[in-house]
Amino acid sequence: MPAVGIVIGDGNREYPGKLTLYVTMTCIVAAMGGLIFGYDIGISGGVTTMDSFQKEFFPSVYEKQKNDQESSKYCKFDSIPLTLFTSSLYLAALCSCVVASYVTREFGRKLSMLLGGVLFCAGALLNGFATAVWMLIVGRLLLGFGIGFTNQSVPLYLSEMAPYKYRGALNIGFQLSITIGILVASVLNFFFSKIPGGWGWRLSLGGAVVPALIITVGSLILPDTPNSMIERGRFKQAETKLRKIRGVDDVEDEMNDLIAASEASKLVEHPWRNLLQRKYRPHLTMAILIPSFQQLTGINVIMFYAPVLFQTIGFENDAALMSAVVTGLVNVGATVVSIYGVDKWGRRFLFLEGGLQMLISQVAVAAAIGAKFGVDGNPGVLPKWYAIVVVLFICIYVAAFAWSWGPLGWLVPSEIFPLEIRSAAQSVTVSMNMIFTFIIAQVFLMMLCHMKFGLFIFFAFFVAVMSVFIYVFLPETRGVPIEEMNQVWRSHWYWSRFVDGDENGRVEMGKVH
Ligand code: BGC
Repeated sequence: MPAVGIVIGDGNREYPGKLTLYVTMTCIVAAMGGLIFGYDIGISGGVTTMDSFQKEFFPSVYEKQKNDQESSKYCKFDSIPLTLFTSSLYLAALCSCVVASYVTREFGRKLSMLLGGVLFCAGALLNGFATAVWMLIVGRLLLGFGIGFTNQSVPLYLSEMAPYKYRGALNIGFQLSITIGILVASVLNFFFSKIPGGWGWRLSLGGAVVPALIITVGSLILPDTPNSMIERGRFKQAETKLRKIRGVDDVEDEMNDLIAASEASKLVEHPWRNLLQRKYRPHLTMAILIPSFQQLTGINVIMFYAPVLFQTIGFENDAALMSAVVTGLVNVGATVVSIYGVDKWGRRFLFLEGGLQMLISQVAVAAAIGAKFGVDGNPGVLPKWYAIVVVLFICIYVAAFAWSWGPLGWLVPSEIFPLEIRSAAQSVTVSMNMIFTFIIAQVFLMMLCHMKFGLFIFFAFFVAVMSVFIYVFLPETRGVPIEEMNQVWRSHWYWSRFVDGDENGRVEMGKVH
């Protein structure tokens, strides 16, 4: 794995280059990879609450929901096949990550994106035309394989293409396209659920073909990154491309550093074993904990199951889907706030403010649901104002996530790994994210059934733990060039004991000899 477009060398170098129209357009097309991920996150929750869909594939859930007025509302949707439908995708994505990382390295980012798009198309078609549960599950596995490929290659592609000064904003651009995908999916669910005859879910699921085709066609017209060309020995071609991307002729410094970085990374024979060295302890800790904590905020409970949750607290089908649209809008808006603020206010401020806001809103939601539903889950008739208050607190929670753990959960790991462990550490981050997404998706409905309103306290507990962790252990990384990043560990009260520096106090991280 090569250097991901980072500044290597003495740390004082600034590569010339502009934010050209060419690179902007290229990055917009590539970011569509986030769209397919988001579309998928947003579509499943709405589809699983559509009556016609439930009747056809999960009749027991449908019966339980319609006829059973007696049992607890908390347990209405607790069905293993229904959960498997949502979560199978993440398991598949986890598995394909490993293959995707090989394809991306050996054959370039473009081919990985293309494969991702094609697999996603196939999955969307199988789902749209499904007549049996196995078709749904196989379709979702294909979607998952597709996402494994695009999530591996797209962020890498963006980082390599972007001029280094804009890498932070472009990185969050990927998250922005995830949130747009989620929003579009909820809006479509809202309209498709109204189609007479009840076949709208086919359009919702089959609609994933559109973002899939965009990334498929996009990957065919996108140029490969100079880094990837260098990695495969095409130096002349890489230089020409770099000039075009940067919009300047003087690309010698950057070219030399990219070649040196690529050669250095080829020297590392055992990136995984490397990662276990003592001096990488802070990096490994962050690679494992940040994505795990991101999922333990409980965000995907809202993203996957918002309509189910809103039905549980007494909304009609329509209002439940509409509320999912509202949370989707808040998600997109707050991500924009993060793009604006991340380099102004810093990562720690956003993490801590977001954590506190999430904690308060989760406790409020737990209290509101607990007050009305109690432990038996039979609230009687719920007033409208009540449901509105709950939705409001959920929006406050989503906004907090969307300007903190959402984008930073991807950004911070990607900016702290030194070159020689970047590839391995990044795979750890992506895998941890998928594992925890899978676990939460798989057990949420069961947890709602058993823990009831306490479920929100469960996630609030983790939010408190992760906020303390950030406060104590995460140094600020804003405005620190990647190759200088080890300084932040060196001057940290705890991590300084693991990392070592030279006699000038400078640490040779990501430096190529
Ligand atoms: C997370 C997803 C989540 C999404 C919500 C992403 O950063 O990785 O799991 O669904 O944000 O916007």
